[in-house]
Amino acid sequence: MSAPVKIAPSILSADFAKLGEEIRAIDAAGCDWIHVDVMDGHFVPNITIGPAVVKALRPHSDKPFDVHLMISPVDAYLEAFADAGADIITIHPEAGPHSHRTIQAIKALGKKAGVVLNPATPAKMLDYLIDEVDLVLVMSVNPGFGGQSFISSQLRKIEAIRKMIDQTGRDIHLEVDGGITMDTAPLAISAGADVLVAGTASFTGGPGQYAANIKALRGE
Ligand code: DX5
Ligand code: ZN
Repeated sequence: MSAPVKIAPSILSADFAKLGEEIRAIDAAGCDWIHVDVMDGHFVPNITIGPAVVKALRPHSDKPFDVHLMISPVDAYLEAFADAGADIITIHPEAGPHSHRTIQAIKALGKKAGVVLNPATPAKMLDYLIDEVDLVLVMSVNPGFGGQSFISSQLRKIEAIRKMIDQTGRDIHLEVDGGITMDTAPLAISAGADVLVAGTASFTGGPGQYAANIKALRGE
């Protein structure tokens, strides 16, 4: 049997006035990873947080920090996020001209490296990157905001990438981000995802609900 799906709550949907507390609560509720959305108002139409905030949050959980960089240029900031405590760093190939080099740079910093595909980016983009990465992240919304609806055309991309990953024989995570709810989680899982990012669905209802939210996303 395959391992149970991992849940990576996106802190974009947490209460920004008490992020440390929110991370402790979602950790205690049984999440697997903490997903950190970094946006620059240039690569995506929203601005969130930078390395200083990641560093301040690091002591609040021992779980892996999955840092999703939606910034361009990206290369100049990799070291800052690595030093701040990121465990996994994911980048969009459109964020810079040399994504192969960027992936190598993340690995040279001793971190897991992932590539993110926007809804319009084909699976084929992975042809010459898949052997280099630890994780592929499929965006099931256009990046920039939480609370958007799942784009169901991404399911066949997830299926195609699952096949590509299996063909490598390597242990590469297939993560899906955007519009994950109790209804869409099973679709993403049956298409081949093994990590689900969930912002709204994790943090809805306040801390008393977090454990139930995570269980529901796992289909328990
Ligand atoms: C979107 C971000 C997502 C987002 C997910 O750009 O990458 O991680 O926070 O939020 P929900 O789960 O609410 O769609
Ligand atoms: Zn994200």
